[in-house]
Amino acid sequence: MIHIKTKEEIELIRESCKIVAETLQLVKAHIKPGITTKELDQIAEDYIRSSGAVPAFKGYSQVGSFDYPASLCTSVDEEVVHGIPGSRVLLDGEIISIDVGVVKNDYYGDAALSVGIGNLTPEKIKLLEVTEKALYLGIEKAIAGNRIHDISSAIQTFVEANGFSVVRDLCGHGVGKFLHEEPSIPNFGKKGTGPLLKKGMTLAIEPMVNMGTYKVKTNSDGWTVMSADNKPSAHFEHTVLITNGHAEILTVC
Ligand code: MF3
Ligand code: CO
Repeated sequence: MIHIKTKEEIELIRESCKIVAETLQLVKAHIKPGITTKELDQIAEDYIRSSGAVPAFKGYSQVGSFDYPASLCTSVDEEVVHGIPGSRVLLDGEIISIDVGVVKNDYYGDAALSVGIGNLTPEKIKLLEVTEKALYLGIEKAIAGNRIHDISSAIQTFVEANGFSVVRDLCGHGVGKFLHEEPSIPNFGKKGTGPLLKKGMTLAIEPMVNMGTYKVKTNSDGWTVMSADNKPSAHFEHTVLITNGHAEILTVC
């Protein structure tokens, strides 16, 4: 069932989403060659807790692996999503996806962005630009009366027209009372199909875009999703609120 949020619930989700956005901007400001992903995670966790919230990913369980151990997902280059922060040092020329979720007053917010470290190849710059634009094109279709796959199709069409591929094994999702709610929001699909969008839905839209094949594999830590051909991947995500007009992006500060 797709939950339609009340006014009161929306205010709580809005508050969590603001903390998510602030955390992302803070972490982004610290990204530079030489910093480790673990240091970024500590910055995020400190900020989230100082805001009276709790990191939503920490302790999250997934069948077949240990509970997620960190506040951020930090996914570098060929890592698509769910990279675990650790001793990895960021290097000039790499790209990194930072994904953060928080829970406060029992309501969740979730967002991600990708950025380059130092000087990037033109292909990597294009990958970042196309993935971010794909997110906004998807959000443009997130209007009451449209269907979920209108979002999916807009993302897929733009990404593939630019010579990249959309990951199929992972999707966006409803968010609010839980980190992951219905509906699932694939980044590929046929427009005019899928669940109807209604005012009061809160959705996390999150294109994951690969430079090469759309296929992915999970590495030996049981969490980190990587591109099957080890080519770079980017990821952007916003939590949005469906209204009568254009969706309101909640993960902004
Ligand atoms: N934004 C991601 C998602 O919606 C992050 C989940 S990380 C996890 O799937 F640890 F919570 F699984
Ligand atoms: Co998400």
